[in-house]
Amino acid sequence: MRKRIAAVASAAAACLALAACGTGTAESAEPSLRTHEKVAVYTWWAAGVEKQGLDALVEVFEKQHPGIEFVNDGLMGGGGSSTSKEHLQSRLETEDPPDVFVAHAGAELQDYIKDKYIQDVSALYEEFGLTEAFPEDLIDRLSTKNGKIYSIPSNIHRANLLWVNPAVLEQHGLEASGEYDTLDAFLADLEKLKKAGVEAPLSVGTTWPQVHLLETTLLADLGPEAYSGLWNGSTDWNDPRVTTALEHYGKLMSYTNADRDTLEWDGASAMVIAGDSAFNIMGDWALTAYNSEDMTYGDDYRVVPAPGTSGTFDFLADSFTMSTGILDEDSAKAWLQTVSSKEGQVAFNKIKGSIPARTDVDAAQFSEYQRTAIESFGQDTIVSSVTHGAAVPIAQLDKITTAVVEFNSGSTDVVAFQAALAASGG
Ligand code: GAL
Repeated sequence: MRKRIAAVASAAAACLALAACGTGTAESAEPSLRTHEKVAVYTWWAAGVEKQGLDALVEVFEKQHPGIEFVNDGLMGGGGSSTSKEHLQSRLETEDPPDVFVAHAGAELQDYIKDKYIQDVSALYEEFGLTEAFPEDLIDRLSTKNGKIYSIPSNIHRANLLWVNPAVLEQHGLEASGEYDTLDAFLADLEKLKKAGVEAPLSVGTTWPQVHLLETTLLADLGPEAYSGLWNGSTDWNDPRVTTALEHYGKLMSYTNADRDTLEWDGASAMVIAGDSAFNIMGDWALTAYNSEDMTYGDDYRVVPAPGTSGTFDFLADSFTMSTGILDEDSAKAWLQTVSSKEGQVAFNKIKGSIPARTDVDAAQFSEYQRTAIESFGQDTIVSSVTHGAAVPIAQLDKITTAVVEFNSGSTDVVAFQAALAASGG
């Protein structure tokens, strides 16, 4: 604490002397206390296919703000896994924050706001013209109860997607579209594939992808309204539809790969790409994994709403915050400006698989899958993702995750599972 206050105090004193600090854009911040301007950015897109989107964004940043150095201050940990979240948390607690960090828009930000780790960036919405550029529904989801906004989204991801290898289905005489109205119909095909010798017809990765699978299962069996009610308190966790969903979930898990606890999400995508599995349920960041393997959309792989969830868009957004107590706010704002800019959103999302948060970009420049997502976001019922921070605070997600791990590591007791989930909000 002392270290940071001393640094801030001496910077403030020097600012008084120079009378020129803390105003204007990064480009115009002339006299500077810093030897050079830089912004330390924390994300979990630290390697592999995840890093490609970040690299594209950095390229735009360097073009828009050539005087500011981008410092990659992140840590590997897909989905903002507990490892990367805990690492970030310890940095925030020890007052060693990155200048900006990515988090998920929505409930995930609550504790960061409460603990005053992040700044209100509402004024930047006016400055960058974002209030008009972002859809109203998104602004509502980003705003706290008192109307403040603490982050700027780079994108909108869809979570409820089934990734399909049509060749595996065709090989076993099954309909290759991958479209299923119900989980029962999906389970029937999984059983056929298993009987035909496909060891793991549905691939899944380690902990959070298993929570992700639970999320889409609850959505399928409860429908959007009752699913949302689980997170806002209007649906009783003891509802029989929850029991059905958990039973379905247990069955789905029985068709997954034995090495699931050691696979990252992209390892599970790789099983579909290789034809070892027919299906994987994952968000649209997986597009990067398929594109990196030169798989052709429609022919080599298909992407459809997760079974039983057609007409619903399970939403999440990666959103950049600005930490409190940082010295180089102008550089942090410059990064946020790039994140929110048309050019930044186009370059980033083209690779990331998500869709821009801005509505004023031309959809035609995006991939075929992304154009379907843009359309769905405009017309479907939107619900918030649990696994990816939109629906519940981190502490509740941690409890849900513990319940999932318990269930999947041998207990398979639906009653205990339902009770543990019911207790997660308390
Ligand atoms: C999500 C995140 C995505 C992607 C994915 C896999 O939580 O929003 O941008 O990184 O995890 O790591």
